[in-house]
Amino acid sequence: MKERIASLKKSKNAIILAHYYCRPEVQEIADFVGDSLALSQKAVATDADIILFAGVHFMAETAKILNPTKKVLIPDLSAGCSLADSCPDADFEKFLQKYPGHTVLSYINCSARVKALSDIIVTSGNALRVVNSLPANAKIVFAPDRNLGRYINEKTGRNMVLWDGACHVHDHIRPEDIVAAQQQHPEAQTLAHPECPESVLRHANIIGSTAAMLKEVAKSDRKEFIVVTESGILHELQKQHPDKVFYPIAPTAEGCTNCQYMKQNTLENICRALETEQPELLMEPELMNRARKPIERMLEIG
Ligand code: 13P
Ligand code: SF4
Repeated sequence: MKERIASLKKSKNAIILAHYYCRPEVQEIADFVGDSLALSQKAVATDADIILFAGVHFMAETAKILNPTKKVLIPDLSAGCSLADSCPDADFEKFLQKYPGHTVLSYINCSARVKALSDIIVTSGNALRVVNSLPANAKIVFAPDRNLGRYINEKTGRNMVLWDGACHVHDHIRPEDIVAAQQQHPEAQTLAHPECPESVLRHANIIGSTAAMLKEVAKSDRKEFIVVTESGILHELQKQHPDKVFYPIAPTAEGCTNCQYMKQNTLENICRALETEQPELLMEPELMNRARKPIERMLEIG
């Protein structure tokens, strides 16, 4: 299967982009694995004719918006995102009517229609930088993640109005899971994703995106780490640092730290998608044009 994927990639001039939350075997066949920010930057830079996105729907949409003339394939069109789903565009549009004169910042984990209602997109890798680039007195609405929004407010001293959305994977992680892991591994540093609630982040030593976690581990002389995010990132952490030990947090009653949507990408459906060039992600040009502006503003800020 791996050989077949490699040969299809070559014959069709296709690139496979994968998020760190994908299955290890999917990360291994990808041309590029990254966090949401790096993946969108890579989607702009590629000269491939076909982009196969091993991630979730909003990520493939972002790649398509940035490359409207390219063919973007998503191995399973039903791979969604609970955070993006927590912000339906019609409700968000009504919500925004209550906040005239506000700059609308949206986390990249949202639908293209929500992006089209936004002024600037952010990822967890650049959110603080983007917010700090706005005037100190700017009135801001932030959507859809209330946990990331609260964290940005805390770090920047802003008072952004928050949409009440969340990711089911991160929002269900409980502080007692972290405390139990820290008691079991007293020497370990705790890395947590800012999509986690405040009660969890309070116990973290380092808070950041998946790429930021990798950077922090590379800089650190510590040997053990408790990893408080989706379990897929453990693959790259362990691969880059075979001498270090990474502990996922204990599975919770609500369904552990796996994102079932990310795990919908498999070698089988990637191979099939490359063979058949289906399912292809298609979008209305007018929607792409409206959603592109706030993404480009993000990419300009970096
Ligand atoms: P990052 O990889 O940008 O940290 O994003 C986390 C996430 O939830 C992606 O769905
Ligand atoms: Fe969405 Fe959460 Fe899955 Fe990321 S981990 S894709 S935010 S549901």
